[in-house]
Amino acid sequence: MKRIKVDYNYVMDKFVADGLSEEKLEEYKEKAKLGLSRLLRMFDDGQAGFIGLPEQNLAPIKKFAKEISGKFNDLIVVGIGGSSLGVETVCNAMLPFGYNARSFAERGCFPRVWVADNVDPSKISSILSECQPEDTFVCIITKSGSTVETAANFGIIYEWLTSKVKNPKKQICAITDPEKGALRAMTNDKGFVSFDVQPNVGGRFSVLSPVGLVPAAIVGLDIEKLLEGAKSVNKDNYEQILTLSAIYMYFMDKGKNINVMMPYSSRLISFADWYCQLWGESLGKNRTIDGKDTVFGTTPVRATGTIDQHSQVQLYKEGPNDKVFTFIEVLNHDKDRKITSPYEAYDYLNGHGMGRLCNIELMGTEAALKNSGKPSVKISLDIVDEFTIGALFMIWQYIVPVIGLACDIDPFDQPGVEEGKDYAYALLGRNGYDATKAKFTEIYKKQDDFIV
Ligand code: PA5
Repeated sequence: MKRIKVDYNYVMDKFVADGLSEEKLEEYKEKAKLGLSRLLRMFDDGQAGFIGLPEQNLAPIKKFAKEISGKFNDLIVVGIGGSSLGVETVCNAMLPFGYNARSFAERGCFPRVWVADNVDPSKISSILSECQPEDTFVCIITKSGSTVETAANFGIIYEWLTSKVKNPKKQICAITDPEKGALRAMTNDKGFVSFDVQPNVGGRFSVLSPVGLVPAAIVGLDIEKLLEGAKSVNKDNYEQILTLSAIYMYFMDKGKNINVMMPYSSRLISFADWYCQLWGESLGKNRTIDGKDTVFGTTPVRATGTIDQHSQVQLYKEGPNDKVFTFIEVLNHDKDRKITSPYEAYDYLNGHGMGRLCNIELMGTEAALKNSGKPSVKISLDIVDEFTIGALFMIWQYIVPVIGLACDIDPFDQPGVEEGKDYAYALLGRNGYDATKAKFTEIYKKQDDFIV
Protein backbone atom coordinates (compact mmCIF):
# COMPACT_ATOMS: atom_id res chain seq x y z
CA MET A 1 0.00 0.00 0.00
CA LYS A 2 1.24 3.48 -0.85
CA ARG A 3 1.58 5.52 2.33
CA ILE A 4 1.93 8.79 0.43
CA LYS A 5 -0.16 9.70 -2.61
CA VAL A 6 0.10 12.68 -4.92
CA ASP A 7 -3.11 13.98 -6.48
CA TYR A 8 -2.34 16.45 -9.27
CA ASN A 9 -5.77 16.74 -10.89
CA TYR A 10 -6.05 20.45 -10.28
CA VAL A 11 -2.90 21.45 -12.10
CA MET A 12 -4.15 19.86 -15.33
CA ASP A 13 -5.72 21.99 -18.09
CA LYS A 14 -8.84 19.82 -17.89
CA PHE A 15 -9.51 21.56 -14.59
CA VAL A 16 -7.64 24.90 -14.45
CA ALA A 17 -7.30 27.29 -17.37
CA ASP A 18 -3.52 27.68 -17.62
CA GLY A 19 -2.81 24.18 -16.35
CA LEU A 20 -0.77 21.40 -17.91
CA SER A 21 -1.85 19.34 -20.87
CA GLU A 22 -0.85 15.69 -20.68
CA GLU A 23 1.74 16.34 -23.43
CA LYS A 24 3.22 19.29 -21.51
CA LEU A 25 3.43 17.21 -18.38
CA GLU A 26 5.39 14.54 -20.28
CA GLU A 27 7.66 17.23 -21.74
CA TYR A 28 8.42 18.66 -18.27
CA LYS A 29 8.88 15.18 -16.84
CA GLU A 30 11.60 14.61 -19.43
CA LYS A 31 13.25 17.78 -18.15
CA ALA A 32 12.89 16.51 -14.58
CA LYS A 33 14.46 13.20 -15.62
CA LEU A 34 17.48 15.14 -16.84
CA GLY A 35 17.74 16.84 -13.43
CA LEU A 36 17.36 13.49 -11.68
CA SER A 37 20.07 11.84 -13.77
CA ARG A 38 22.41 14.77 -13.02
CA LEU A 39 21.64 14.43 -9.32
CA LEU A 40 22.24 10.67 -9.31
CA ARG A 41 25.50 11.19 -11.20
CA MET A 42 26.57 13.69 -8.54
CA PHE A 43 25.81 11.09 -5.88
CA ASP A 44 27.85 8.48 -7.74
CA ASP A 45 30.71 11.03 -7.80
CA GLY A 46 30.59 11.40 -4.01
CA GLN A 47 28.40 14.53 -3.84
CA ALA A 48 24.71 14.98 -2.86
CA GLY A 49 25.43 12.77 0.15
CA PHE A 50 21.87 13.04 1.49
CA ILE A 51 20.86 10.28 -0.94
CA GLY A 52 23.02 7.75 0.92
CA LEU A 53 21.92 8.72 4.44
CA PRO A 54 19.11 6.13 4.73
CA GLU A 55 21.81 3.42 4.58
CA GLN A 56 23.84 4.77 7.52
CA ASN A 57 24.62 2.66 10.57
CA LEU A 58 22.37 3.85 13.39
CA ALA A 59 24.03 1.78 16.11
CA PRO A 60 26.34 4.56 17.47
CA ILE A 61 23.47 7.06 17.71
CA LYS A 62 21.14 4.55 19.37
CA LYS A 63 23.85 3.47 21.80
CA PHE A 64 24.58 7.06 22.77
CA ALA A 65 20.88 7.92 23.20
CA LYS A 66 20.49 4.86 25.43
CA GLU A 67 23.50 5.86 27.55
CA ILE A 68 22.02 9.25 28.42
CA SER A 69 18.42 8.06 28.52
CA GLY A 70 16.54 8.92 31.71
CA LYS A 71 19.39 11.09 33.02
CA PHE A 72 18.28 14.57 31.94
CA ASN A 73 15.13 16.60 32.33
CA ASP A 74 15.99 18.94 29.45
CA LEU A 75 17.63 18.86 26.06
CA ILE A 76 18.75 22.14 24.51
CA VAL A 77 19.47 21.93 20.80
CA VAL A 78 21.68 24.81 19.66
CA GLY A 79 21.68 25.39 15.90
CA ILE A 80 20.00 27.37 13.16
CA GLY A 81 18.74 26.88 9.58
CA GLY A 82 19.52 23.38 8.36
CA SER A 83 20.90 22.62 11.81
CA SER A 84 17.61 23.26 13.63
CA LEU A 85 14.63 23.19 11.26
CA GLY A 86 14.75 19.42 10.71
CA VAL A 87 14.85 18.73 14.45
CA GLU A 88 11.91 21.08 14.96
CA THR A 89 9.98 19.37 12.16
CA VAL A 90 10.45 15.92 13.63
CA CYS A 91 9.58 17.08 17.16
CA ASN A 92 6.57 19.10 16.00
CA ALA A 93 5.24 16.09 14.07
CA MET A 94 5.93 13.38 16.62
CA LEU A 95 5.80 14.82 20.13
CA PRO A 96 2.36 15.60 21.55
CA PHE A 97 1.27 19.24 21.89
CA GLY A 98 2.26 20.52 25.30
CA TYR A 99 4.98 17.86 25.55
CA ASN A 100 7.27 20.16 27.55
CA ALA A 101 4.51 20.78 30.07
CA ARG A 102 4.26 17.07 30.91
CA SER A 103 6.01 15.54 33.89
CA PHE A 104 9.18 13.49 33.49
CA ALA A 105 7.21 10.27 34.00
CA GLU A 106 4.48 11.32 31.54
CA ARG A 107 7.23 11.97 28.99
CA GLY A 108 8.49 8.40 29.41
CA CYS A 109 11.59 9.79 31.19
CA PHE A 110 12.67 11.56 28.01
CA PRO A 111 13.82 15.18 28.26
CA ARG A 112 11.88 18.28 27.40
CA VAL A 113 13.25 19.83 24.23
CA TRP A 114 14.22 23.44 23.54
CA VAL A 115 15.73 24.87 20.38
CA ALA A 116 18.10 27.81 20.74
CA ASP A 117 18.21 29.11 17.18
CA ASN A 118 17.61 32.85 16.98
CA VAL A 119 19.80 35.44 18.67
CA ASP A 120 16.91 36.75 20.68
CA PRO A 121 17.93 37.48 24.26
CA SER A 122 14.44 36.81 25.59
CA LYS A 123 14.36 33.37 24.00
CA ILE A 124 17.67 32.10 25.38
CA SER A 125 16.96 33.70 28.76
CA SER A 126 13.58 32.01 28.96
CA ILE A 127 15.03 28.65 27.99
CA LEU A 128 17.74 28.86 30.62
CA SER A 129 15.32 30.02 33.27
CA GLU A 130 13.29 26.83 32.65
CA CYS A 131 16.28 24.49 32.93
CA GLN A 132 18.75 23.48 35.64
CA PRO A 133 22.40 23.17 34.54
CA GLU A 134 22.89 19.81 36.34
CA ASP A 135 19.83 18.37 34.65
CA THR A 136 20.32 19.58 31.08
CA PHE A 137 21.90 17.98 28.06
CA VAL A 138 23.12 20.24 25.23
CA CYS A 139 23.41 19.29 21.56
CA ILE A 140 25.33 21.90 19.62
CA ILE A 141 24.88 21.49 15.90
CA THR A 142 26.77 23.43 13.28
CA LYS A 143 28.21 21.86 10.18
CA SER A 144 30.57 24.74 9.45
CA GLY A 145 31.31 25.40 13.10
CA SER A 146 31.35 29.11 12.37
CA THR A 147 27.71 30.21 12.45
CA VAL A 148 27.53 33.32 14.59
CA GLU A 149 24.06 32.71 16.05
CA THR A 150 25.01 29.21 17.15
CA ALA A 151 28.34 30.39 18.57
CA ALA A 152 26.58 33.15 20.53
CA ASN A 153 23.87 30.90 21.98
CA PHE A 154 26.40 28.21 22.81
CA GLY A 155 28.67 30.76 24.48
CA ILE A 156 25.86 31.77 26.84
CA ILE A 157 24.83 28.17 27.50
CA TYR A 158 28.41 27.01 28.04
CA GLU A 159 29.02 29.68 30.65
CA TRP A 160 25.72 28.80 32.36
CA LEU A 161 26.66 25.11 32.38
CA THR A 162 30.30 25.46 33.45
CA SER A 163 29.39 27.82 36.28
CA LYS A 164 27.42 25.02 37.99
CA VAL A 165 28.64 21.70 36.62
CA LYS A 166 32.06 20.17 37.40
CA ASN A 167 32.37 18.02 34.31
CA PRO A 168 30.33 19.78 31.60
CA LYS A 169 31.69 17.64 28.79
CA LYS A 170 29.42 14.81 29.98
CA GLN A 171 26.46 17.01 29.15
CA ILE A 172 27.46 18.19 25.70
CA CYS A 173 27.36 16.55 22.33
CA ALA A 174 28.68 18.30 19.21
CA ILE A 175 27.47 17.55 15.70
CA THR A 176 29.78 19.05 13.14
CA ASP A 177 32.26 18.45 10.31
CA PRO A 178 34.60 15.50 11.01
CA GLU A 179 37.73 17.61 10.60
CA LYS A 180 37.15 21.28 9.92
CA GLY A 181 35.83 24.28 11.83
CA ALA A 182 35.98 25.94 15.21
CA LEU A 183 33.49 23.55 16.84
CA ARG A 184 35.52 20.54 15.71
CA ALA A 185 38.61 22.14 17.26
CA MET A 186 36.76 22.89 20.51
CA THR A 187 35.28 19.38 20.58
CA ASN A 188 38.67 17.74 20.19
CA ASP A 189 40.16 20.09 22.77
CA LYS A 190 37.45 19.67 25.40
CA GLY A 191 36.65 16.02 24.72
CA PHE A 192 32.92 16.38 23.91
CA VAL A 193 31.12 13.39 22.47
CA SER A 194 30.62 14.12 18.80
CA PHE A 195 28.92 12.94 15.66
CA ASP A 196 29.99 13.86 12.14
CA VAL A 197 28.12 15.67 9.43
CA GLN A 198 29.79 14.37 6.29
CA PRO A 199 31.19 17.14 4.07
CA ASN A 200 29.06 15.99 1.13
CA VAL A 201 25.82 16.49 3.09
CA GLY A 202 24.65 20.11 2.82
CA GLY A 203 23.17 21.88 5.86
CA ARG A 204 19.58 21.99 4.59
CA PHE A 205 19.90 18.39 3.34
CA SER A 206 21.16 17.09 6.69
CA VAL A 207 17.99 16.25 8.62
CA LEU A 208 18.49 12.51 8.14
CA SER A 209 22.12 12.71 9.29
CA PRO A 210 23.12 12.93 12.99
CA VAL A 211 21.90 16.56 12.78
CA GLY A 212 18.29 15.41 12.98
CA LEU A 213 18.74 11.88 14.24
CA VAL A 214 20.73 12.45 17.44
CA PRO A 215 18.21 14.87 19.03
CA ALA A 216 15.31 12.73 17.77
CA ALA A 217 16.83 9.63 19.38
CA ILE A 218 17.47 11.50 22.65
CA VAL A 219 13.75 12.34 22.90
CA GLY A 220 12.84 8.73 22.19
CA LEU A 221 11.65 8.91 18.58
CA ASP A 222 12.00 5.97 16.24
CA ILE A 223 14.93 6.97 14.03
CA GLU A 224 14.99 3.59 12.29
CA LYS A 225 11.47 4.22 11.06
CA LEU A 226 12.48 7.72 9.87
CA LEU A 227 15.15 6.14 7.70
CA GLU A 228 12.81 3.36 6.55
CA GLY A 229 10.47 6.08 5.27
CA ALA A 230 13.36 7.83 3.55
CA LYS A 231 14.46 4.50 2.02
CA SER A 232 10.99 3.99 0.57
CA VAL A 233 11.80 6.90 -1.77
CA ASN A 234 14.02 5.15 -4.29
CA LYS A 235 14.34 4.23 -7.94
CA ASP A 236 11.16 2.13 -7.78
CA ASN A 237 9.04 5.20 -7.11
CA TYR A 238 10.69 8.23 -8.62
CA GLU A 239 7.37 8.86 -10.37
CA GLN A 240 6.05 11.16 -7.62
CA ILE A 241 9.30 13.16 -7.61
CA LEU A 242 9.34 13.51 -11.39
CA THR A 243 5.67 14.49 -11.54
CA LEU A 244 5.92 17.12 -8.80
CA SER A 245 9.21 18.51 -10.18
CA ALA A 246 7.63 18.77 -13.63
CA ILE A 247 4.57 20.57 -12.24
CA TYR A 248 6.61 23.15 -10.30
CA MET A 249 8.93 23.82 -13.25
CA TYR A 250 5.99 24.30 -15.59
CA PHE A 251 4.36 26.86 -13.32
CA MET A 252 7.69 28.66 -12.79
CA ASP A 253 7.85 29.05 -16.56
CA LYS A 254 4.25 30.30 -16.49
CA GLY A 255 5.33 33.10 -14.15
CA LYS A 256 3.76 31.76 -10.97
CA ASN A 257 6.31 33.19 -8.59
CA ILE A 258 4.96 31.90 -5.32
CA ASN A 259 4.82 28.32 -4.05
CA VAL A 260 2.51 27.92 -1.09
CA MET A 261 2.99 24.86 1.13
CA MET A 262 -0.16 24.34 3.17
CA PRO A 263 -0.41 21.28 5.39
CA TYR A 264 -3.81 20.69 6.91
CA SER A 265 -2.35 19.64 10.24
CA SER A 266 -0.77 21.58 13.07
CA ARG A 267 1.73 18.73 13.38
CA LEU A 268 3.21 19.69 10.03
CA ILE A 269 3.62 23.45 10.55
CA SER A 270 7.37 23.06 11.07
CA PHE A 271 7.62 20.84 8.02
CA ALA A 272 6.43 23.81 5.96
CA ASP A 273 9.17 25.96 7.57
CA TRP A 274 11.76 23.31 6.73
CA TYR A 275 10.45 23.21 3.14
CA CYS A 276 10.69 27.02 2.85
CA GLN A 277 14.38 26.95 3.75
CA LEU A 278 15.14 24.04 1.43
CA TRP A 279 13.32 25.64 -1.47
CA GLY A 280 14.41 29.24 -0.96
CA GLU A 281 18.08 28.71 -0.24
CA SER A 282 18.51 26.06 -2.92
CA LEU A 283 16.61 27.63 -5.81
CA GLY A 284 16.92 31.41 -5.37
CA LYS A 285 19.99 32.09 -7.52
CA ASN A 286 21.34 34.76 -9.85
CA ARG A 287 23.92 32.58 -11.63
CA THR A 288 23.66 29.40 -13.64
CA ILE A 289 26.03 26.52 -12.94
CA ASP A 290 28.20 27.87 -15.80
CA GLY A 291 28.34 31.32 -14.19
CA LYS A 292 25.91 33.09 -16.52
CA ASP A 293 23.63 35.80 -15.12
CA THR A 294 20.07 34.70 -14.50
CA VAL A 295 17.14 35.38 -12.22
CA PHE A 296 15.87 32.11 -10.86
CA GLY A 297 13.58 30.99 -8.08
CA THR A 298 10.09 31.32 -6.72
CA THR A 299 9.09 32.42 -3.24
CA PRO A 300 8.10 29.66 -0.82
CA VAL A 301 5.28 30.53 1.55
CA ARG A 302 4.06 28.56 4.52
CA ALA A 303 0.38 28.40 5.37
CA THR A 304 -1.54 26.12 7.70
CA GLY A 305 -4.93 24.58 7.15
CA THR A 306 -7.46 25.27 8.42
CA ILE A 307 -6.03 28.31 10.26
CA ASP A 308 -5.09 30.24 7.14
CA GLN A 309 -8.55 29.75 5.66
CA HIS A 310 -9.33 32.61 8.02
CA SER A 311 -6.36 34.62 6.84
CA GLN A 312 -4.54 33.89 3.57
CA VAL A 313 -7.20 32.04 1.59
CA GLN A 314 -9.11 35.23 0.73
CA LEU A 315 -5.97 36.42 -1.09
CA TYR A 316 -5.29 33.01 -2.57
CA LYS A 317 -8.75 32.80 -4.09
CA GLU A 318 -9.40 36.36 -5.20
CA GLY A 319 -5.91 37.85 -5.44
CA PRO A 320 -3.40 37.51 -8.28
CA ASN A 321 -3.09 34.14 -9.99
CA ASP A 322 0.67 33.99 -9.30
CA LYS A 323 0.85 30.96 -7.04
CA VAL A 324 0.89 27.19 -7.10
CA PHE A 325 -0.44 25.48 -3.99
CA THR A 326 0.71 22.28 -2.35
CA PHE A 327 -1.67 20.90 0.23
CA ILE A 328 -0.74 18.13 2.61
CA GLU A 329 -3.61 16.01 3.83
CA VAL A 330 -3.52 13.52 6.69
CA LEU A 331 -6.00 10.75 5.92
CA ASN A 332 -6.10 9.31 9.42
CA HIS A 333 -5.53 11.87 12.13
CA ASP A 334 -4.07 10.59 15.37
CA LYS A 335 -6.32 10.77 18.45
CA ASP A 336 -9.33 11.68 16.32
CA ARG A 337 -12.50 12.64 18.17
CA LYS A 338 -16.17 12.78 17.37
CA ILE A 339 -17.72 16.23 17.60
CA THR A 340 -20.83 16.72 19.68
CA SER A 341 -23.05 19.69 19.01
CA PRO A 342 -22.99 22.09 21.98
CA TYR A 343 -26.24 23.80 20.82
CA GLU A 344 -28.95 23.06 18.24
CA ALA A 345 -27.52 25.64 15.78
CA TYR A 346 -24.41 23.44 15.52
CA ASP A 347 -26.21 20.13 15.07
CA TYR A 348 -24.80 19.71 11.53
CA LEU A 349 -21.50 18.85 13.24
CA ASN A 350 -22.97 16.02 15.28
CA GLY A 351 -21.08 12.76 14.91
CA HIS A 352 -18.46 14.04 12.47
CA GLY A 353 -14.84 13.32 13.35
CA MET A 354 -12.59 16.35 13.80
CA GLY A 355 -10.04 14.83 11.40
CA ARG A 356 -12.80 14.40 8.83
CA LEU A 357 -13.82 18.04 9.32
CA CYS A 358 -10.23 19.10 8.66
CA ASN A 359 -10.13 17.06 5.44
CA ILE A 360 -13.55 18.29 4.33
CA GLU A 361 -12.36 21.87 4.77
CA LEU A 362 -9.32 21.04 2.66
CA MET A 363 -11.61 19.74 -0.10
CA GLY A 364 -13.59 22.98 0.20
CA THR A 365 -10.42 25.04 -0.32
CA GLU A 366 -9.32 22.87 -3.25
CA ALA A 367 -12.69 23.36 -4.91
CA ALA A 368 -12.78 27.10 -4.23
CA LEU A 369 -9.29 27.63 -5.66
CA LYS A 370 -10.02 25.42 -8.66
CA ASN A 371 -13.15 27.48 -9.27
CA SER A 372 -10.91 30.57 -9.54
CA GLY A 373 -8.44 28.82 -11.84
CA LYS A 374 -5.73 28.52 -9.16
CA PRO A 375 -3.61 25.35 -9.50
CA SER A 376 -3.05 23.01 -6.59
CA VAL A 377 -1.63 19.58 -5.84
CA LYS A 378 -2.50 17.48 -2.82
CA ILE A 379 -0.11 15.13 -1.07
CA SER A 380 -1.94 12.66 1.18
CA LEU A 381 -0.25 10.85 4.05
CA ASP A 382 -2.04 7.84 5.48
CA ILE A 383 -0.88 8.89 8.97
CA VAL A 384 1.76 11.20 10.44
CA ASP A 385 4.51 8.99 11.83
CA GLU A 386 8.28 8.74 11.58
CA PHE A 387 7.94 6.73 8.36
CA THR A 388 5.85 9.27 6.46
CA ILE A 389 7.93 12.19 7.80
CA GLY A 390 11.13 10.45 6.66
CA ALA A 391 9.59 9.85 3.24
CA LEU A 392 8.36 13.46 2.96
CA PHE A 393 11.85 14.76 3.78
CA MET A 394 13.36 12.56 1.11
CA ILE A 395 10.77 13.41 -1.56
CA TRP A 396 11.47 17.13 -1.13
CA GLN A 397 15.21 16.69 -0.85
CA TYR A 398 15.00 15.11 -4.31
CA ILE A 399 12.49 17.53 -5.89
CA VAL A 400 14.46 20.68 -5.08
CA PRO A 401 17.81 19.64 -6.62
CA VAL A 402 16.06 17.90 -9.51
CA ILE A 403 14.49 21.26 -10.40
CA GLY A 404 17.75 23.16 -9.84
CA LEU A 405 19.89 20.80 -11.88
CA ALA A 406 17.31 20.51 -14.66
CA CYS A 407 17.41 24.30 -14.96
CA ASP A 408 21.23 24.62 -14.69
CA ILE A 409 21.13 26.03 -11.17
CA ASP A 410 23.38 24.82 -8.35
CA PRO A 411 20.93 23.82 -5.59
CA PHE A 412 23.67 23.05 -3.09
CA ASP A 413 25.35 26.42 -2.60
CA GLN A 414 24.07 29.60 -0.90
CA PRO A 415 26.38 32.47 -1.90
CA GLY A 416 23.59 34.98 -1.28
CA VAL A 417 23.61 34.49 2.48
CA GLU A 418 27.35 35.14 2.82
CA GLU A 419 27.48 38.89 2.14
CA GLY A 420 25.18 39.91 5.00
CA LYS A 421 26.97 37.51 7.35
CA ASP A 422 30.35 39.01 6.41
CA TYR A 423 29.11 42.52 7.20
CA ALA A 424 27.95 41.29 10.60
CA TYR A 425 31.37 39.74 11.28
CA ALA A 426 33.01 43.02 10.23
CA LEU A 427 30.77 45.01 12.58
CA LEU A 428 31.60 42.62 15.40
CA GLY A 429 35.29 43.41 14.83
CA ARG A 430 36.29 39.93 13.63
CA ASN A 431 39.93 39.68 12.52
CA GLY A 432 40.49 39.88 8.79
CA TYR A 433 37.29 41.80 8.05
CA ASP A 434 38.68 45.35 7.77
CA ALA A 435 38.07 45.58 4.02
CA THR A 436 34.54 44.25 4.48
CA LYS A 437 33.93 46.90 7.14
CA ALA A 438 35.07 49.61 4.73
CA LYS A 439 32.75 48.20 2.04
CA PHE A 440 29.87 48.14 4.51
CA THR A 441 30.47 51.77 5.47
CA GLU A 442 30.43 52.65 1.80
CA ILE A 443 27.13 50.86 1.14
CA TYR A 444 25.21 51.45 4.37
CA LYS A 445 24.33 55.12 3.87
CA LYS A 446 21.00 56.57 4.93
CA GLN A 447 19.45 60.04 5.05
CA ASP A 448 17.68 61.39 8.11
CA ASP A 449 15.08 62.95 5.75
CA PHE A 450 13.70 59.49 5.19
CA ILE A 451 13.28 58.62 8.83
CA VAL A 452 10.12 59.81 10.52
O1 PA5 B 1 21.70 24.95 4.23
C1 PA5 B 1 22.63 25.54 4.75
O2 PA5 B 1 23.80 25.27 4.49
C2 PA5 B 1 22.39 26.60 5.80
O3 PA5 B 1 21.07 26.96 5.92
C3 PA5 B 1 22.90 26.10 7.14
O4 PA5 B 1 22.18 24.99 7.56
C4 PA5 B 1 22.82 27.20 8.21
O5 PA5 B 1 23.41 28.36 7.76
C5 PA5 B 1 23.55 26.73 9.47
O6 PA5 B 1 24.85 26.36 9.16
P1 PA5 B 1 25.75 25.55 10.12
O7 PA5 B 1 25.21 24.19 10.26
O8 PA5 B 1 27.11 25.54 9.46
O9 PA5 B 1 25.79 26.29 11.42
